[in-house]
Amino acid sequence: AKVAVLISGRGSNMQALAAHAGAAYRIVVVASDKPEAPGLDWAVQAGLPTFALSPKGIGKQAYESALDAALRAAGAEWIALAGYMRLLSDEFVARWRGRIVNIHPSLLPKYKGLDTHARAIAAGDAEAGCSVHLVTEELDGGKVLGQARVPILPGDTPDALAARVLAEEHRLYPAVLADMVRR
Ligand code: GRF
Repeated sequence: AKVAVLISGRGSNMQALAAHAGAAYRIVVVASDKPEAPGLDWAVQAGLPTFALSPKGIGKQAYESALDAALRAAGAEWIALAGYMRLLSDEFVARWRGRIVNIHPSLLPKYKGLDTHARAIAAGDAEAGCSVHLVTEELDGGKVLGQARVPILPGDTPDALAARVLAEEHRLYPAVLADMVRR
């Protein structure tokens, strides 16, 4: 399957997805809403086609139609969000319905949105984790396709927990994506 990866930042999940590309899926384009995203440099070095465009100055609609056109021109069949920090519009989600997945650093349905690790620690949870889910119009609200769990340890900081969860993200995301696109 042909997959577009959308990033906004460092792109470690993109790298994990790229490392596991093969029979199940290939990355046909890496797109970013932040032209300065460090992950884009990595993608260029890795020889992956890239598309960078900021919505600033052109507006969300123009931005999303250019993004949509770039993904289709690349032949993308699926979209994998990997630290993409912008909400996709209902129209965009509808155009790609059932074909957009995301990785979120919590055990959904717990802790949708930001600051998931600090919230899990503050709540006194015994464990945390990450979820790969289908993207719908509701933020972090689509069907959960797979999860991985880690313990929350005494004295954990949000950064320490984030690192423990991130290692699991890098294992979970490629596996769930490969499984998803094979069906
Ligand atoms: C990850 O923790 C991911 O779960 C969340 O944003 C972070 C992105 O990290 N959606 P990276 O850019 O993949 O390194």
